[in-house]
This record gives sequence, structure tokens and C-alpha cells, in this order.
Amino acid sequence: MSGRADALVFYGATGDLAFKKIFPSLQAMIRRGVLDVPIVGVAKEGNVEQLKARARESVETHGGVEPAAFARMMELLRYVGGDYEDPATFAALKRALGDARRAVHYLAIPQGLFGLVTEQLAQAGCVEGARLVIEKPFGNDLASAQALNRTLHQHFAERDVFRIDHYLGKGTVQNLVFFRFANTFLEPIWNRNYVESVQITMAEDFGVQGRGAFYDCAGTIRDVVQNHLLQIVSNVAMEPFPRSADPETARDEKVKVLKGMPPIDPRDVVRGQFRGYLEEPGVAPGSTTETFVALHLYVNSWRWQGVPFFIRAGKNLPVTRTEVVVRLRQPPTIVEGLVFPANYVRFRLSPDFVIALGAMVRAPGERLAGREVELELTHLPGKDREPYEELLGDALAGDSFRFAREDYVEEAWRIVDPAIKTGTPVYPYEPGTWGPREAEGMVPGGWFAAREQEA
Ligand code: BG6
Repeated sequence: MSGRADALVFYGATGDLAFKKIFPSLQAMIRRGVLDVPIVGVAKEGNVEQLKARARESVETHGGVEPAAFARMMELLRYVGGDYEDPATFAALKRALGDARRAVHYLAIPQGLFGLVTEQLAQAGCVEGARLVIEKPFGNDLASAQALNRTLHQHFAERDVFRIDHYLGKGTVQNLVFFRFANTFLEPIWNRNYVESVQITMAEDFGVQGRGAFYDCAGTIRDVVQNHLLQIVSNVAMEPFPRSADPETARDEKVKVLKGMPPIDPRDVVRGQFRGYLEEPGVAPGSTTETFVALHLYVNSWRWQGVPFFIRAGKNLPVTRTEVVVRLRQPPTIVEGLVFPANYVRFRLSPDFVIALGAMVRAPGERLAGREVELELTHLPGKDREPYEELLGDALAGDSFRFAREDYVEEAWRIVDPAIKTGTPVYPYEPGTWGPREAEGMVPGGWFAAREQEA
């Protein structure tokens, strides 16, 4: 399929994601004039009036009703109810689609249903000219992701499959790549000759927020490392892509980064679980699922060989913040008694966007002494669009650049598979701390981001 979609079908219309993210994004897209095609919500139970009421409640809770855009959304909204196993549901969907020939089918439903829905769409004659948008998680491991790809490809060509990773829709994540490739000063130092290590921290100061049952089957590595954080590694490490009309050139470069990564060695992984997790609703008794992980990996490329990429992510940590800190090699000492610490470049990607440079200056006073300073290069005001608004807009326009390709997701699972399959110990940690003590010593010199955040 190519060109602009002429209908948007979303499955899971009464679900949590639709309520929190999708309706507000649809309203915003309508306001911007990028969405003006029939919108069909599909769910097991309900009717169009209930769906409209839920849409209203959703936008009221998340940003507010914009009268003109909301009214248009109500005109465009249709509803199809029924069991995903029942062919009658998809016959009704086909009728609801009317003359539409290039529908986008957005599967905001549990991954166990992806294969079934795809098959039903094929049986109902809804595949030709259509596009699929698939929510994460895409599989549970390499084997299941490969199987899922095979299933989808029975009916959809790869160019028509859009795998969502909402981090790719974040303006701040885009800005990381933009900053790298829109400036010349980073390029000479952005390699193993100058970079000592890279640290990526994704900290959240809340727990599993009622998603215990989902989270317990996933754990931190599946939930955020395999997708969001490896995407960030790729953005930090990728080569500039050649200027080309071929939209795949950029995605090729990201896949190359992953191809250069050996599978994570389970000995390089520290898993943790916050105290109290086992009492969360939906969590299995005695569960050993991790709510925290610290690990390191390598990118064996000409640019990065030997540079460790440290990753740390977890729930119930002291702050909510996602940061990349690229630490440069320590300068030599030229003044007796003065040791200069390493410079660093810090990108804060969430909750706001900051680029800062850690540097050393002479401290005022009689004695020759140094003082560490952090030069904030930018702290951008202004708000980006919501990632779902961005990504659904791209999917409707047929732009796959910010979606994960088949080979990318499979490479990502290949890398994390040993870390999720080997039963490494799970250490307890207190909520509000930086995870188990066992993770502290992983980074020579300490976890940089944490030290700064605590200061
Ligand atoms: C989701 C994870 O993909 O990303 C959640 O399932 C996590 O566990 C969330 O909290 C974080 O997203 P954001 O945009 O709030 O950083």
C-alpha cells in the first residue's frame, strides 16, 4: 500500500491505551487537519454511543475538549463490536469501511490476538491495500517475534507493517539524532578514541500502576530495554545515513548498530525487584520478574568497539527521568596535584529536553584549583506533540521511518534473549532508591546520571 490512508480502524477501542493516548491524539490530528477519514473503533462490547461517551471522557481527562475538532471526531467515529474470533465481526467491519480501500488497521490489543485479527482480516477480504500498525511488545523473545513476523507476512508485505515504539515518536529522541547530525563539532569526538563509556538511565518514580498482570509476564528488560532503550543506543551509535530518496537508508543504519552487538552476557546483568512488588494485584506469588535492571553491552563497530554502553532502568526509583550521558576520556594531568575529571555530554530526553556539557574551569581564588561545572547548552522550552499523534500521523501518511522494521525487532530480541532466558538472581531494593546495591559497582567511577540527579 502506498499513499494516504482513507480509513483508520483501531482495535481495543474501549481499552486503556485508547482512553489515555489514542482519543486525545485523534482529536489533535483532526485539529491540525491531518485526519479527516472515517475512524472505526473495534471492541468486544458496547455501541457507538458508549464509544463516543468514552471518547469525550478520554479527552476531558487528557488535555480537554476542543469543540470543533471533537465534533468532527464524533462525525467520523464508527463502531464495530464483537468477538475477534467471530468472522461476523470482520464482516461487519468490512461493511463499516464502505468504500475505503486503503485502511490503516491499528492493533492496540494484546499481542496474542495479532495473528488472529490478521487472519480474520484476510478472510473478510480487508487486506488488499491495507496497512497494519502493531503495538508493543512485539513478541516475548526472538522465536516468538520471528513467528509473529511470519504470521503477519502471510497477509501483509513488510512495507505495510508499522511496529510502534512510542519512544520513536518523542521529539526529544528525534532531537538526539538531529543534534548529532545537524552539527559538526560532535563528529570528531563521537567514537572510541574519545568516548570512554555511554550511560543510559530510564528511571521512573512510580511502580507498576495497576499493570501487575502485564508487567509480571514482561519485566524491565522486555518492557523497556528491548525496545525503547535499544532504540536510544541505536540513535547514539548509528552512522549518518546517506542522503537518499530511499526511506530505508536510515533504518538500515539502525539495524547495523544492532548487528554489531553481541548478545548480552548474563554475567553483565543485575536484576532487581522493589520491595512490595509481590503484593501488587496480578503479580504471581513468589514472582522473580525484575522491576529494575542494570546491564552493559557493546557495539562492535569501527566507531564503538570496546566502549561499554551501560543501561539502567527501573520502577520506583528516586526520580522520573530518561538520560543519556556520553562520558569522554579523562584528560592527562599537566599540573602537579590536579586531576581533571572526564568531560561528558548529557542528553536528558524526559521529562524535558536538556543538552549539557560537563567541563572543568579554574576555581577563583589564590590556589590553583579546578571546579567542575555543567554548561547547559540548551533547555528547550515548548512542547512536542504526543508520540501517538506523531506516529499515527506517520502511519496514515505511509511514512515508516519512525517504526521498527522486521530485522530490527529480531536483532533486538537476539541481543536481549540471554538476559531474559538465563535465570540470573533478582535482588530486592527499597522503593525510592537506585535499585539493588549489586548494581552500583557496575560502572567504573559510578553511575554518572544518578550522582548528578541526587546532587
Ligand atoms: C511503556 C512501558 O512502553 O513505556 C511502561 O510499558 C513505561 O512501563 C512507559 O512506564 C514509559 O513511557 P514514557 O513515555 O512515559 O517515558
